Amino acid sequence: MLKRNQFGKDFKWGVTISAFQNEGWANADGKGASIWDTFTNNTSNINNGDEIGNAANFYKQYEQDILLAKQIGLDVFRFSISWSRILPNGTGSINNEGIDYYNRIIDCCLSHQLTPYITLYHWDLPQALEDQGGWTNRQIVHWFLDYTQICIQHFGDRVKHWVVMNEPMTFTGLGYFTGYHAPQKKGILNFLKAAHHAVLCMAQGGRLIRNTIANAQIGVALSCSHVKPVDRKSKNVRAAKRMEALLNRFFIEPLLGMGYPIDVMPALKLINLIFKKGDDQLMSFDFDFIGLQYYFRVVARHSIYPPILFADEVPPVKRNVKLNTMNLDVYPKGLKKVLKFYTAYKKIKSFIISESGVCYPDYLVNGHVYDARRLKYHQMILKQIKKSRKQGIPVNGYFIWTLVDNFEWKEGFEPRFGIVHVDFKSQQRTIKLSGEWFRKFLHS
Ligand code: BGC
Repeated sequence: MLKRNQFGKDFKWGVTISAFQNEGWANADGKGASIWDTFTNNTSNINNGDEIGNAANFYKQYEQDILLAKQIGLDVFRFSISWSRILPNGTGSINNEGIDYYNRIIDCCLSHQLTPYITLYHWDLPQALEDQGGWTNRQIVHWFLDYTQICIQHFGDRVKHWVVMNEPMTFTGLGYFTGYHAPQKKGILNFLKAAHHAVLCMAQGGRLIRNTIANAQIGVALSCSHVKPVDRKSKNVRAAKRMEALLNRFFIEPLLGMGYPIDVMPALKLINLIFKKGDDQLMSFDFDFIGLQYYFRVVARHSIYPPILFADEVPPVKRNVKLNTMNLDVYPKGLKKVLKFYTAYKKIKSFIISESGVCYPDYLVNGHVYDARRLKYHQMILKQIKKSRKQGIPVNGYFIWTLVDNFEWKEGFEPRFGIVHVDFKSQQRTIKLSGEWFRKFLHS
């Protein structure tokens, strides 16, 4: 049976949310537009034509949500800052109402003894910056550092835990390579530029925080997957290695000073075209922790597309595996394998599982949501963490994705990940069975 004390008294129990998915009120109090506001304004971009409305209304209900986290027994509240709420044009004049809002969130967390973790970037780039090329414009490094400096200046007296960026592979891959997400840019060159600039921002951002906030704990949150080849044919085994390089190695290796994984993807040398003198030094930083975000397993095979990767995923629907609402392969056991993979990087000091979760349809019946499958998922994840810790892997926290149901990007409101149910019409919250389990478990 799982018990809280099996994880040690310093293990951090938290929850992660993001500004765009939770806050709503996209035009309130001087906020500027982000690329995700632009994208969702066209409802044909969103599954089922969902309108985001006020998302999960965190802009107004933050006190209630923070209190829920407290009641469940969590000790970390990880949230992201909407860059365009603070700098409506991405750069230049500051919107003080945005600053005040995040100050209220931080103070509310602290008053409930919840440690605030700030994510500086969770994908909602100010539209004004995208209009100037966004992540493909090298100027983004300056814009990002100016924004980081403002956050440090206003929040750094109380916030010691900083996650510089959330899942660079997702926003550069889907936003700048396949065009599936905002800002719908496509092509290998856009992707490589966006990715390289993201690496520079992470490392430089980390350095700026370290140089200005005493005793700061600084990390990044990287997506990761358990990757395996569809069979033992050598072309598929090699394809899986490339897929693994893209999904698990692409960002951590340059950040650790190892460069991009060109050993299995020589065509990645293209990225040298984007390099400027001195980038080799600027790209790395010794983070205090690496956040890993685990959701699914990928079965890979050789393919003639996309270029550079020459591998694709065998769709989970064709594999007779357990699927979530987004048709992803639910495989919590993969987390232990992924942790083992990352442990080979000796320079990583400590890990936090900064997100994991699962979406299933939930039904509110007589005031209860019986989400037994989600509960099982989190319990399985906890078992993988427990086993990994026993093997000496320094994984020191688990942040649930997510507290309340929210807006799942292009997939709209249908995928529900929360341990607390939201009725999006009334914005009423109901703790699900999984949330109740966490409450008992964390109080045990
Ligand atoms: C992201 C979240 C997202 C979650 C579930 C993570 O990749 O950080 O924003 O909602 O996965 O898909």
